[in-house]
Amino acid sequence: MLFRQLFDLETSTYTYLLADEQTREAVIIDPVLEQVERDLALLRDLELTLVYALDTHVHADHVTAIGTLAERTGAKTVLSERAGVGCADVYVKEGDRIAFGRCELEVRETPGHTAGCVTYVTGDRSMAFTGDALLIRGSGRTDFQQGSAPALYRSVHEKIFSLPDACLLYPGHDYKGRTVTSVAEERKHNPRLGGGRTEREFVAFMSELQLAYPKKIDVALPANLYCGVPKGMLASGEVESVPAWAPIEISAGGIPEVAPEWVAAERGAARVIDVREPSELSGELGHIPSVELVPLAEVERAAASWDRDEPIVVVCRSGGRSGKAARQLAGMGFRRVASMRGGMTAWSERRLPVDHRPLEVAPTA
Ligand SMILES: [Fe+2]
Repeated sequence: MLFRQLFDLETSTYTYLLADEQTREAVIIDPVLEQVERDLALLRDLELTLVYALDTHVHADHVTAIGTLAERTGAKTVLSERAGVGCADVYVKEGDRIAFGRCELEVRETPGHTAGCVTYVTGDRSMAFTGDALLIRGSGRTDFQQGSAPALYRSVHEKIFSLPDACLLYPGHDYKGRTVTSVAEERKHNPRLGGGRTEREFVAFMSELQLAYPKKIDVALPANLYCGVPKGMLASGEVESVPAWAPIEISAGGIPEVAPEWVAAERGAARVIDVREPSELSGELGHIPSVELVPLAEVERAAASWDRDEPIVVVCRSGGRSGKAARQLAGMGFRRVASMRGGMTAWSERRLPVDHRPLEVAPTA
C-alpha cells in the first residue's frame, strides 16, 4: 500500500494519503482546505484516482477540504453518521469498511473528543488514523463539540489500545514535530491515558485543563458543517452534497446566513426562532409574525428536544446573537441552521411585515 503523511504548518494538521499501488485508487484522510492544490498535485504526480475523502471528525481548528476535493476529483466524502452534519456522501458507523482497490479501512467509533469521532484502521491492522481521539503522548480536548472525557477514555482503551502492540498510530495533529507512535508505546507512555491511568484520573485531569478557545473555530465549524465547501458553490447550489434547504452564504465570521428576503418569501420552509429578550419583540423593531421566541440564554436548553434535521433560521436585532445561537445549534448537531443576515434591523429596512404584539417565550418540552 502506498502511504504519504502530509502536514499543514499553520494548524499543525496531518493529512494522510493511502492508495492501492496496483489499481491506483486512493483515499485521503483529514485534508485541509488551504492545501487542496498541494494534495491534487500529489494525486496527479502519483497517478492516483481519489475515491474517498474522509474526515475523522468535524474539525474546529481548520476548514476541511473533503468537499472541495470531492468536487474536483469526483471522490465521495465520508464522515461518521454521528458527526451531526448533512453534507457527506457516505456516512459510516462502527465496523464499516471503506474499500479502495484491494485495500480497505475499518471504521472504529471513538467518541469523546467529539461525539462523531472515528478512527480508521487499515485492513491488516498495521496502521490506525486516530484523528484527535489519541494524540502522541496526549489526547484531544473534551470541552467542546459534545466532548466527554469518560467516553474518550473508553474509546481509547477499548478501540485503540486493543489493536496489536505494533500497530502504528497516526494522529490528527502534533505540535512538537512528532509524526507517529504505536499502540504499545502509547499504552505505556501516554501521560493521560496510558501507564495504568484510571478513567477517574483521566476525567479529573481533563476537567482541570484550561484550554484557549480554538483560534479558527468561528470559521471552521460552520464551514465544516457543509464539508468545507466554499461559499460560491453553496449559494449556487452547484454542489449536490450540500443540503439545498436554503441559499446559504457563509459570513466573514464563518456563520451560515440567509437573507431576510428569503425568510419573508419562504415562511414555512424553516422554523424561525427569535433569540432576543421578550421586551425587544414588542419594541420599535417588533418581530416577524408568528416567530417563536427563545432568548439566547435559553436556546441550548430548549433545543435539546428539537428535531435536529428540521431547518432552523435564528433571528436577533442585528445578527450577532443569532450568529452565536446558530453556532451553538450547529455544535449540538443541528444540520440545517442559519442566522438571518442583518437581523430585524435589516428586516425593517426592507419594510417586511412586522408584528408589535408581545410574545411569550416558547415553552420548553
Ligand atoms: Fe478536532
